[in-house]
Amino acid sequence: MRKVITYGTYDLLHYGHRRLLERAKALGDYLIVGVTSDDYDKSRGKINVKQSLIERMQGVQETGLADEIIVEEYEGQKIDDIKKYGVDVFAIGSDWLGKFDYLKEYCEVIYLDRTEGVSSTELRREENALDLGLLGNSANVEKVKKEAGFVDGLNVRAVHADGSHFDALLKEVNAVYIYSKPEEHYAQVRQALLAGKHVLCESPLAMKKSQCDELFELADKSGLVLMEALKTAFSTAYTRLLLLLKSGKIGDVISVDTTCTSMEDIDGLTPDMLREHWNSICDWGPTALLPIFQILGTAPMSRRIISKKVSAEYDTFSKIDFVYDHAVASAKVGKGVKSEGEMVITGTRGYIYVPAPWWKTDFFEVRYEDQNTNQRYFYQLEGEGIRYELVAFLHAVHGKHANEEISRDVTRAIASVMEAYASGDGVFLLGERA
Ligand code: CTP
Repeated sequence: MRKVITYGTYDLLHYGHRRLLERAKALGDYLIVGVTSDDYDKSRGKINVKQSLIERMQGVQETGLADEIIVEEYEGQKIDDIKKYGVDVFAIGSDWLGKFDYLKEYCEVIYLDRTEGVSSTELRREENALDLGLLGNSANVEKVKKEAGFVDGLNVRAVHADGSHFDALLKEVNAVYIYSKPEEHYAQVRQALLAGKHVLCESPLAMKKSQCDELFELADKSGLVLMEALKTAFSTAYTRLLLLLKSGKIGDVISVDTTCTSMEDIDGLTPDMLREHWNSICDWGPTALLPIFQILGTAPMSRRIISKKVSAEYDTFSKIDFVYDHAVASAKVGKGVKSEGEMVITGTRGYIYVPAPWWKTDFFEVRYEDQNTNQRYFYQLEGEGIRYELVAFLHAVHGKHANEEISRDVTRAIASVMEAYASGDGVFLLGERA
């Protein structure tokens, strides 16, 4: 019996796939089809595959052409499979011409002509097309623009540096990403929602909890997606870390400690000029608070903010301490001080260490008293998480699933901290004796 094997994603199974499978099958007596797992696709940069692995496998099965369907989970698996299944022929579309010649050592390699004019990428683009407008003039907006280029169906139609012609921007698009000054978020998000646009807004979404409530209510009433943009929440290493914690890997969590700092040249700036800069608590606070609220919950028993300020608004450093029923937490943020940007999660059996910069890491380590049992975890990170954040936004807009990465309670809790800082509620100032 002559065994043939072929691989693919087979998203939104189309005519080109069917033709490929027919011709592959005709090369032998038994056809094995390898369908890529979601994780493997993600690691090779295919990030917004529309159907789940199961749906894609069903698609292949329904062609009636595959004698066996397997899952492709890791790089290098093809060699293993060819040996394991005793494969005689490896067949693949001509878009891969030459790429699999290294398999000739193990079996015959045949490239089949790709069918012109149809591809999953095109189908995704047609089905998903969302015209996005960007508001803001920071390096971050540039990154979002670049990353949107990797997300099929997300078309950046306009970029406005400031909100002076926000109305005009909104007319051109059906969704908007906002990176303005935090105090402007509430009014701009509201304006966008009232204009019927979906909104992805950089964290903090608003400076008051009540404003978040109002905005979410408005979004729901209008059937629009309102999502807080906080890229760390979408990075694979971070989301896997949360799952590991839930599975009890380090026992009960006793403490969550996060640090995020960056240097900022603020020497000689007047308070007015400083007002144009995001302060430490707005810029780094949401990121540093994210794991605390996601791991320990959004209802601490007490909270204390200790800040070093150089003007009424600008803190060069803040430490936000929380006491929970069974745990404590601390977030240290700074723009104008420097420290080790790490995260440590302390548990009753061990701890998780995420090295600097923990908020865009592809790696973390679970550590125990007996170092021989330590475990290291690596996950590919594309575009600092922004790419995945955009995919999550697109999926939420298409009703595929709601944004689960950042719950509304977390968004509200972050806004509460911003509100407390601005009002001075529970805030201690360094260098100022009572
Ligand atoms: N294929 C083909 N003709 C097409 C599209 C795909 O022969 N028009 C072949 C590919 O060469 C590959 C198999 O079908 O051997 C599975 O391809 P896959 O990557 O899943 O499909 P694409 O439509 O190319 O997907 P994408 O646009 O996401 O790359």
